Order: sequence, then structure tokens, then C-alpha cells
Amino acid sequence: MIKHVFHSSLAMLGMVSAVAGAAETPASLMAHYAATAGVPVSSLSTLRGAALYRTEHPGRNAQAVSCAGCHTADPKQAGKTRVGKRIEPLAPAANPERFTDAAKVEKWFRRNCMDVLQRECSAQEKGDFIAWLSQIK
Ligand code: HEC
Repeated sequence: MIKHVFHSSLAMLGMVSAVAGAAETPASLMAHYAATAGVPVSSLSTLRGAALYRTEHPGRNAQAVSCAGCHTADPKQAGKTRVGKRIEPLAPAANPERFTDAAKVEKWFRRNCMDVLQRECSAQEKGDFIAWLSQIK
């Protein structure tokens, strides 16, 4: 009986978060991406995450592009799009809304990885990226 009540309240919680659409945390997203990549969360790499953020790639018109190009060298600072629109900081320490909405995270990973790498990021890369950003104090 207790078990039954416990399970149905978990199911309810799941429903509530699906409706709210913003119940993720950096840790739950890291767990999700690690599971998708088939690796333990503990093997996500902050070093690889930082490298993904900083490495410059040749852009479409020979201009170097990187995640840092828009999000700035310091992810605790606000960034800027190429047309000068403000982007709130990417590091959860500076912006607690980051990595709390799976759909938003997926949308921008897809868009920005295509923009910078001209391919989608792998689940492992997404996990590394969040692992690095979320340990910044
Ligand atoms: C052309 C500018 C630009 C570049 C380059 C860029 N981003 Fe972004 N990024 C944005 C904008 C604009 C948003 C959405 C606005 C916002 O959330 O403040 C965003 C949001 C995000 C988010 C959403 C996070 C959340 O929870 O809100 C992620 C993840 C992200 N970017 C990852 C990346 C990664 C990874 C790279 C490099 C591969 C990258 N971005 C490069 C402009 C950029």
C-alpha cells in the first residue's frame, strides 16, 4: 500500500513536471545525456566541455566561430548575438534558469552546434558541456 502510494505520487510528480516544462536541473540533464551516450555520469569531462566551449572552428565566411564567440570567454558574463542582442549568462552560477528546461536546452544545442560545428553535438558532448558549466562557481 505504502509502495503503491509512493509510486503514484512519483507518477504525479512526473506529470506536473511535464506540464510545467521547466523541472530539469543541470544534474538531471547530465544524467540524461550520459545515459543516452551509454556512459556513467562520472565519466563526463569538464575539460572536454571547456574545450567544446572555447575551440574556434572555421565559419561559413572564413570567420572563426566558437561558443565563446557569442557567450563570451567568461560564461558568467552576458553575451551577445552577431546582431548585438543581449544573451543572459550561460553558467548556472550566474543564471539559475540555465539547464532547467529540456526542450529549450535541446533546441539551442541543435541550433548552436550546427552553427559552430556544422553538425549536431553528441549526447556525450552535451553532457560534458553542462558538466563544465555547472561546476563554475
Ligand atoms: C551566434 C551566437 C551563438 C553561438 C555561436 C552559440 N550560442 Fe548558445 N545561445 C545563443 C542564443 C541567442 C541563445 C538563446 C538565448 C538565451 O537563452 O539567452 C543560446 C542559448 C544556448 C543554450 C540554452 C541553455 C539554457 O538552458 O537556456 C545552450 C545549451 C547553448 N546556447 C549552447 C551553445 C553551444 C554548445 C555553443 C557552441 C557549440 C553555442 N551555444 C554557441 C547564441 C549563441
